[in-house]
Amino acid sequence: MNNAQRMTKAPSLISPSFDSSFSDKVLTWFDEHGRKHLPWQQGITPYRVWISEIMLQQTQVATVIPYFQTFMERFPVVSDLANAEQDDVLHLWSGLGYYSRARNLHKAAQMVINQFDGEFPRSVEQLMELPGIGQSTAGAIASISMGIQAPILDGNVKRVLARYNAVPGWPGKSSVAKELWAIADELMPKERVADYTQVMMDLGAMICTRTKPSCMLCPLEQDCEAHRRGEETLYPGSKPKKDKPERSVRMLMVVNKHGEVLLEKRPATGIWGGLWSFPEIQVDDELETEAGRITKLELNGYEEWDSFRHTFSHYHLDIVPVKAFVENTSAVNDGDRWHWFQPDVPSELGLAAPVSKLLKKIKQSL
Ligand code: ADE
Repeated sequence: MNNAQRMTKAPSLISPSFDSSFSDKVLTWFDEHGRKHLPWQQGITPYRVWISEIMLQQTQVATVIPYFQTFMERFPVVSDLANAEQDDVLHLWSGLGYYSRARNLHKAAQMVINQFDGEFPRSVEQLMELPGIGQSTAGAIASISMGIQAPILDGNVKRVLARYNAVPGWPGKSSVAKELWAIADELMPKERVADYTQVMMDLGAMICTRTKPSCMLCPLEQDCEAHRRGEETLYPGSKPKKDKPERSVRMLMVVNKHGEVLLEKRPATGIWGGLWSFPEIQVDDELETEAGRITKLELNGYEEWDSFRHTFSHYHLDIVPVKAFVENTSAVNDGDRWHWFQPDVPSELGLAAPVSKLLKKIKQSL
């Protein structure tokens, strides 16, 4: 079924008709181009497929191959793994990263021995009871090693299906994932389920790549909705960017009777590290008390200016400038940290960006 047909065809609840054109095309491609010689594709058992699928989560095939081989030499069957010391398992895993995968493997092997009589359970639901096995991994183990008609939906397959049907949205969102699972279910053939699972992974990894898909080589080129629109890279949708948090601060622009402005050298680390800036007080602090406390000066009046926004990579800072006047300058905290400057202080001194802007305005206001 192509996409136009999918959209116009009424769902049949009585006898859901399976359209084999999708699976026929990808399986024909598999026969010619698919991967058939990976170590875990030889001597297939649920145990070997399981170990390979866990290793292949977040890790490239080329990296996994030697680890898989060493692991199989050391733990040829599930009971060997169950009986091992956790340290030995972790040791064999070292360099693969994400060590919770190894701890879960060890625990799951013991569950297979103790709760399932040493045999891997033969259903997706029961496989998912084992730690570290989600629905897609369970589908891969079931289809590849047991011939069960169970679809997979790992990152690669999500990309293939999201493009094929132009499914909008980020697959991390449950409604989008649900739609993709429904498509994966619908397209899954009854026959050649192991090859079908493998080819879906192969297409995602080899053809339908994230940034530069090789559509010309793809068996689905004619039917792919994202390709028809020329919008392959818009699918799947990316994770929505979080809104930046908003903070606000009052910047105290203390001006003395000589028209000089008080600046503070900021600590070397953190925002505007080592730059000169105005003393800051929180918007809900009592202004004169707090200003007096940090500058040791008594204010002889102040005016609040319009606030403006300065945006950092991680948050928005709303700055409320407050221009304050002081008579007595002798009591200022000094040393290296506080300094009176003329408002035309050269910017080479190292000024925080909003401070340069405000100093210009102060100069105009004097
Ligand atoms: N990534 C996850 N499972 C895989 C498999 N069986 N073959 C190749 N890459 C994979």
